[in-house]
Amino acid sequence: MKFFLDTAQIDEIKEAAAYGMLDGVTTNPSLVAKAGLPYEQIIRDICEVCKGPISAEVLGTSYDEMLKEARQWASLSSQVVVKIPLTIEGLKVVSSCTAEGIRTNVTLCFSAVQALMAAKAGASYISPFVGRLDDCGQHGMELISEIKKIYNNYKLPTEVLVASIRSPLHLKDAAKLGADVATIPFKVLSQIVKHPLTDKGLAAFLEDAKSIPQA
Ligand code: E4P
Repeated sequence: MKFFLDTAQIDEIKEAAAYGMLDGVTTNPSLVAKAGLPYEQIIRDICEVCKGPISAEVLGTSYDEMLKEARQWASLSSQVVVKIPLTIEGLKVVSSCTAEGIRTNVTLCFSAVQALMAAKAGASYISPFVGRLDDCGQHGMELISEIKKIYNNYKLPTEVLVASIRSPLHLKDAAKLGADVATIPFKVLSQIVKHPLTDKGLAAFLEDAKSIPQA
């Protein structure tokens, strides 16, 4: 399973890169707005720190606007994957990007048939939002299971990128279902590493080590 970081904060990306397990980064307009810098500058900076795929989202809504932005993003770096919303216009853009060899991450996916459409348009990644479905009283992880089954049935090469991850449990369940990628907020990445028994055990070892005789 590939680990992407879901952030536009460069200090978080540097810290996660130091763990040696960072395969890529996803951003969205809300995350970039919080970072408070121009979107293009953020993507350039991220590409310097993480050498994997970096998702940058289009901000237009029409086919022409989105395709223009997709070409601009793709020309910035071969690392850039263009994030496109799962709308009719968006799918047309995905189809054109596929024909031009531009990699895409189709975002805001909330149903299995939406994911099937995105794969047929040639999406490189599909981003189902599990946390936001949970928020609405639906099981987000059931969607991952359905998409994996459908993609497997037809050997569709689109990678399932689990988004809107809110807890370590989301990551565990996504991994059990064989999701290709999890995009993880920095806070959740830190929670995953932590376990109270690890801390307790380490404290006991360090205490006992004090009574080991010196050579
Ligand atoms: C990732 O690509 C998504 O933009 C992100 O995971 C959304 O997460 P949220 O639902 O916590 O905002």
